[in-house]
Amino acid sequence: MILMGDIIREGHLTLRTRAEEVTFPLTEEERNLAHDMLEYLINSQNPEMAEKYGLRGGIGLAANQVNSLKRMFALHLADEKGEQLSFVAINPKIVSHSVEQTYMTSGEGCLSVDRHVPGYVPRYARITVKFMTVDGEEKKLRLSGLPAIAFQHELDHLNGVMFYDRINEKDPFGEIPNATPYERN
Ligand code: NI
Repeated sequence: MILMGDIIREGHLTLRTRAEEVTFPLTEEERNLAHDMLEYLINSQNPEMAEKYGLRGGIGLAANQVNSLKRMFALHLADEKGEQLSFVAINPKIVSHSVEQTYMTSGEGCLSVDRHVPGYVPRYARITVKFMTVDGEEKKLRLSGLPAIAFQHELDHLNGVMFYDRINEKDPFGEIPNATPYERN
């Protein structure tokens, strides 16, 4: 079971290192990692489990954050229509994206960052993505809103990029061109 103590924080080199492609079939260790990352997110959103184990709530977790350089991340969140999205993406890719951008009006947060970093993080408003499942099946999804933002945040982790790298240093709340803001309830 992954606990907060297993999640590395900013300043750790693994967060700045590009994760490597995973080959199939997965090893048992890789399968366990995939399972444990998704399990962390599910537990962290369950008030009793979060309280019991001291878990900070999260909707996404990348392998880099548990000090593993495998190209995989977990997402567990509800989309605009309240539909639950819950999966582990292996070797994920953005195959196309909108010209339109978006950003969270409240900024982004990260389980590896123990501080609030103010500023808008520009993201594509809509993306089409491909990834492999744990069982080696290829998935193709169209995402928008929060799922699209979260997917891009996690994919950045696999490339050694932190969300605040994308904030305009000189003008953190400056207008993002061609963007519709995303307001999280
Ligand atoms: Ni993060």
